[in-house]
Amino acid sequence: MTAPPAASRADAVPFPTRPDVWELPWEPRRQRSGVLNLKSCELRHPVAAELVSAAAHRLGTADLMYYPYQQKLVAALSDYQGHEPSGILLTAGSDSAVGLVVDALATGGRSLILHEPTFESWRYYAALRAVPVVSCPALEAGASRLELTGLHRTMADHPPAVVVLTNPASPSGLALSPEAIAETAERARRAGHLLVIDECYGAFTGITHVPLVASSPHLLVLRSYSKTFGLAGARIASVAGSPALVSYLSRFRPDSTVSSTALALLHTLLADADRFAEVWREVRAIRAEFVQEVLTAHPGWRALDPGGNFVTFRTGDRALPLRMAHHLDSHQVRIRALDEVPGLAGCLRVSLADAPTMRKVAALMNDPVAPR
Ligand SMILES: Cc1ncc(COP(=O)(O)O)c(C=O)c1O
Repeated sequence: MTAPPAASRADAVPFPTRPDVWELPWEPRRQRSGVLNLKSCELRHPVAAELVSAAAHRLGTADLMYYPYQQKLVAALSDYQGHEPSGILLTAGSDSAVGLVVDALATGGRSLILHEPTFESWRYYAALRAVPVVSCPALEAGASRLELTGLHRTMADHPPAVVVLTNPASPSGLALSPEAIAETAERARRAGHLLVIDECYGAFTGITHVPLVASSPHLLVLRSYSKTFGLAGARIASVAGSPALVSYLSRFRPDSTVSSTALALLHTLLADADRFAEVWREVRAIRAEFVQEVLTAHPGWRALDPGGNFVTFRTGDRALPLRMAHHLDSHQVRIRALDEVPGLAGCLRVSLADAPTMRKVAALMNDPVAPR
């Protein structure tokens, strides 16, 4: 069933609404039963599932009945990340951190400078708040490395704005070096920009920018626990920044949206951080084996490294990703064709599950009847 046009839905609300909001695309998440979702980069690993299940069994009635108190988890995150507690802010997933940053720092006449392609929510929340977006392409056609020249040029010429980098990047899976990040942070400081680094997939590749925050009061680092600690359903993420910036952001009251259950789950799982580190290592090994199997059957493709708990393949054929997505869909596996994403035409992204599952997915992709 197709949705009625925005104008008629607006007419159905007996109160003035914003026409620009009705123009935004919105659909609830849907999952067909029996379908393996390798589109959303959730953590699918048996050890992670065991750890999350044990943490869920430890939840108590107080985690449901009483308001959330964040201090214990913030102290544990402070130890884990080596960043002071007053510089840590919790949000209900990093998607809400994106909305918060846009609301708190990019509205009021400023803009958002995006190194694209990037996580779609940046553009979405910018549109919701009527924040202008300046796009700086990170990828030339067919490229296997991220380009920063355009971003640096824009940063030099633009009045103070919120500049966003994702490292490792998604959906491309490519990464910027620590030197490139340090140089970008320095350029942001000189031009008066606020630099936000989303490191949603950093744990899978050993990348973190949190240590930079102590010496960079113009830096915010977003960390999601959805992918790395298997808590996509619990909705919890953190933002590392200077105590002053965190104090400012706190006034937007993200604390009221982070549940006691999410706090308790992450607190329990942080004590298992070493076991999660093993899971991340194993995800890297699963990725390497999957890439090798797929590239053996598709020698003209390239995998964009280092990725995260996903692999992005350049197929070199604009039409192929959608055909491959349909082929896998007919076998109950959902992946993401990236053909509509600037710089990633001809690419497809597959998020990773356990090793036996990925062998089956590789076999489906390598099937003689699969598109090539
Ligand atoms: C780069 C990136 N950042 C942020 C998110 C949002 O993650 P969450 O809201 O689950 O923390 C995603 C989710 O796919 C992502 O790919």
